[in-house]
Amino acid sequence: MKFFVDTADVAEIRELNDNGLLDGVTTNPSLIMKSGRDYREVTKEICDIVDGPVSAEVTATDFDGMMKEAASLSEIADNICIKVPLTLDGLKACKALTDDGRLVNVTLCFSANQALLAAKAGATFISPFIGRLDDIHLDGMDLIREIRQIYDNYGFETEILAASVRTANHVKEAALIGADVVTVPPATLKSLVKHPLTDKGLEAFLADWAKTGQQIG
Ligand code: G3P
Repeated sequence: MKFFVDTADVAEIRELNDNGLLDGVTTNPSLIMKSGRDYREVTKEICDIVDGPVSAEVTATDFDGMMKEAASLSEIADNICIKVPLTLDGLKACKALTDDGRLVNVTLCFSANQALLAAKAGATFISPFIGRLDDIHLDGMDLIREIRQIYDNYGFETEILAASVRTANHVKEAALIGADVVTVPPATLKSLVKHPLTDKGLEAFLADWAKTGQQIG
């Protein structure tokens, strides 16, 4: 399973990348707004830090506008992945861009039929939003399960990128179902390492080691 971080916070991205935990980054207009940075400048900086795909989202809603913005975003770096919304124009742009060899992430997916259309349009990644479905009392994980089955039924190569991940449990469930990628906010990604018994065990080992009076090396 690939791990992407869902942020435009360069300091967080650098820290996670230095720890060897990152396979890519996803951004969206809200995350760019939160960063307070110029989109081009911050996206370039992120692309320079991370080797894997960096999703940058178009904001035009018509096909021609999306293609124009995609061309401009693609100039930022070779590892840019164009993010398009799950609309008819977005799917048309997805097809045109992937036919041209671009990486495309189709975002704002909330149904299995939408995911099926994205795969038919040749999407590199489909982004089903787990947390936002949970927010309206549906089960976001059911959607991941349905998409996994549909893609496996037909051998679609589109990667399932579980998005709108809010908890460590979301990560575990998505991994159990077989999502290809999970994109996680920095704090949630870092929280995956935590377990009270690890802390307690380490504390006990270090205390016992100190009693031996020895040093390694
Ligand atoms: O990047 C898209 C997605 O991960 C957004 O998550 O928490 O705003 O629903 P959230």
